Amino acid sequence: MGLAIGIVGATGAVGQKIIEVIMERNLPISELRLFASEKSAGKTVKLDKYNKEVTVELLTEEVMKEKYDYLLFSAGGSISEKYAPIAAEAGNMVIDNSSHFRMNKDIPLVIPEVNSHVLKGYKGIVSNPNCSTIQMIVAIAPLYRKYGINRIVVSTYQAVSGSGYKAIEELQNQLRDKEYPNKVYTRKIAGNCIPHIDIFNENGFTKEELKMVYETHKILEDDTIEVNPTAVRIPVFYGHSESIYLELKEEVNINEIKKTLEESKGVIVEDDPKINRYPTPIEVENTDFTYVGRIRKDLYNPKGLSLWVVADNLRKGAATNAVQIVEAMENIKMEG
Ligand SMILES: NC(=O)c1ccc[n+]([C@@H]2O[C@H](COP(=O)([O-])OP(=O)(O)OC[C@H]3O[C@@H](n4cnc5c(N)ncnc54)[C@H](OP(=O)(O)O)[C@@H]3O)[C@@H](O)[C@H]2O)c1
Repeated sequence: MGLAIGIVGATGAVGQKIIEVIMERNLPISELRLFASEKSAGKTVKLDKYNKEVTVELLTEEVMKEKYDYLLFSAGGSISEKYAPIAAEAGNMVIDNSSHFRMNKDIPLVIPEVNSHVLKGYKGIVSNPNCSTIQMIVAIAPLYRKYGINRIVVSTYQAVSGSGYKAIEELQNQLRDKEYPNKVYTRKIAGNCIPHIDIFNENGFTKEELKMVYETHKILEDDTIEVNPTAVRIPVFYGHSESIYLELKEEVNINEIKKTLEESKGVIVEDDPKINRYPTPIEVENTDFTYVGRIRKDLYNPKGLSLWVVADNLRKGAATNAVQIVEAMENIKMEG
């Protein structure tokens, strides 16, 4: 018996990746239904693996009340706000990529490698964390567990695919035509970098930056960690990069840190300056791991550590993490 799965926002950048990841990971499927707005309803999506086409359906309250094993949402916060509770009320498990429910204390915020224990016995809506938070936490959680962390200073270098398919088209068009106007961003993105992701808060941080602060606290269940992020959009199509500075609670031993990271779930260490080995977005595209390089001890603070962390934002930062939550829930069910 397979799983009945529905994808809300199936025609978007994340939705398309979810379909790809489900096929690749051989998730046992009995039924796959795809939902979007009127703009895409009626279009067909090819599932090469099954030699089959699925017609995109219009998202309505009625279809959300039907029975599914899992509904994966990636259609934006307002769609999740309206439709996810209807689906959950009907007894469906919902995995939501939007930020809408993430800070709700009754809703688990899950990175399966880090905190799948919170899914035990749970039914309802589960939130997928922010893409930049996911890759940062996959890399630092093992260090947090072993040494403790006082402070995180992180700067992100985020790909345009993080803003959806319209942003991918905007960069493509601006690379072809210098005069192509900016619609998605406040500035031209081609040849530029923009230190502004999501809206500004009164304290000067953007909402994207504050997500990294509060989601870190929720996932690691520790709000004493001081997190200071700067989130920047750069003209890369796929893959977010992060320069992360950690102040641990103990003195840094670089060999031990590398060994800990090498043994960590979901992490691949790519670090050898002698042969220019470090991860970059192009190299990690279409992979499900979080890559860590440039691992080095601070020149002044014996507890200070710098890392360069790269992952595919549409895969580990969204689609793969959501599918891994389905897999984790199924494993929990099997373990009884
Ligand atoms: N991109 C990332 O790296 C990333 C990472 C983590 C989380 N997320 C989150 O995932 C969500 C989707 O992001 P995305 O990048 O995939 O956006 P996107 O490329 O713009 O896709 C949006 C999807 O939502 C659908 N949609 C829009 N309005 C709808 C409506 N009224 N009813 C039904 N469907 C509707 C669109 O369908 P149509 O084809 O009909 O327009 C499309 O399938 C957002 O909440 C985003 O914050 C994105």
